[in-house]
Amino acid sequence: MNLSLAILVVILGTTCGGAFAELESKVKTAVFLSPKFELGPGSVANKYDYGIDFPKGHIALKSFNAEVVDESGNPVPLHETYLHHWVVARYYEPKHVTTQTRYDGHRLLRPSGHIVVRNSGTCQRDELGQYYGLGSETRGTATDVPDPFGIVVGDPAEIPEGYEEKWLLNIHAIDTRGVVDKLGCTECRCELYNVTEDENGKAIRSDYKGGLHCCYDETQCKLREGFHGPKRSLYLRYTVKWVDWDKFIVPVKIYILDVTDTVKITDDSSGDIVDHNCLIEYNVESCSSGEKECLDVKRTSFPMQKGGYVIYGVAHQHSGGTGSTLYGKDGRVICSSIPTYGKGKDAGNEENYIVGMSTCYPKAGSVKINNGETLTLVSNYSSSDGHTGVMGLFYLLVAEQLPHQDFRHSTRSSFFTNINSLFS
Ligand SMILES: *[C@@H]1O[C@H](CO)[C@@H](O)[C@H](O)[C@H]1NC(C)=O
Ligand SMILES: *[C@@H]1O[C@H](CO)[C@@H](O)[C@H](O)[C@H]1NC(C)=O
Repeated sequence: MNLSLAILVVILGTTCGGAFAELESKVKTAVFLSPKFELGPGSVANKYDYGIDFPKGHIALKSFNAEVVDESGNPVPLHETYLHHWVVARYYEPKHVTTQTRYDGHRLLRPSGHIVVRNSGTCQRDELGQYYGLGSETRGTATDVPDPFGIVVGDPAEIPEGYEEKWLLNIHAIDTRGVVDKLGCTECRCELYNVTEDENGKAIRSDYKGGLHCCYDETQCKLREGFHGPKRSLYLRYTVKWVDWDKFIVPVKIYILDVTDTVKITDDSSGDIVDHNCLIEYNVESCSSGEKECLDVKRTSFPMQKGGYVIYGVAHQHSGGTGSTLYGKDGRVICSSIPTYGKGKDAGNEENYIVGMSTCYPKAGSVKINNGETLTLVSNYSSSDGHTGVMGLFYLLVAEQLPHQDFRHSTRSSFFTNINSLFS
């Protein structure tokens, strides 16, 4: 059955002579499990797994989806295990080195000799260099890159001599079974964590109310008195789709923008120097009783050195978020991304949690960012309640060129999408 269908696709593909059709029919899918992590009620895991299973070779990534599952493969709901974030990063490792594959929490102990291959975003230092990353919204957020675009990796011409390309997975999860305050634990409020030092042994300032410095690996959120529950083994199950590289693929660049970025621009004889400082997290003060609208609006502006055509966009927010928009210099909307809150108990629809973010898929060529254009990122949160450790990130895929004419307005593409959906 499968064989004859496959032959049918090949025949149709050659009859029409469409390279586009070939791309569509060549999408490969693999499902992987992360290394195991264990959580008891109230406990936190923040693991860095180096050299995870990942498709190999010169390929173009088409999507990456993930969720937390238990030992039987059942999806675990957010009200039991809150997925604060997962992040997938790319790096080159010297071939002769055998790396310990897991680091618990301590980012600073990163193995030496690694070269992190950052995305094209503007945050500096170690932050936000990942290729993929989401949080509680994972199950309900599309990550597909439309044809003929793709995130191109594994190009042997780019990998330095003596190195190989590898992938790192960071999972940060908080078990909130039996805790006194589920939202407080997921927002990493320090008063619930009984910590006085951050994960690097630095004293936590008394005015630091909450965020990642209080909920690092193996910390413990406060449990209801007398609550006992079993420790359990969990995994991130992730599904990667890709196509093998061919000349018809149009590469996209990944940009991760951060609303906390305090951009400083200084004039220099050789041009503007733009200094980015991404804080990643921020707090939302609860509104005072006199205010009409309890809305926290945070914004930042920065120049995009290199522009291009927006192919995909999505924001990342935490509970309390009401949406985020990226604007062009003239105020036009480049992409607006709005959270969906769950309404029930089941995994994927958990009440009070963000279970999906809307995405933008502008028609190729219709949304353009100019070289050097100043963009403004706005992140809105409800301030009916205060929040700690929230985020306002924006993930953009930008193509610096458009496909050749035959790929655009293609009736073949929808035809083959339909054909393929019959087979899947
Ligand atoms: C808080 O931490 C201190 C020192 O690490 C420990 O002695 C104490 O038992 C902890 N309290 C709770 C409620 O876990
Ligand atoms: C954010 O709030 C501002 C100010 O009220 C509003 O103009 C904008 O439309 C909001 N954006 C989103 C995405 O909710």
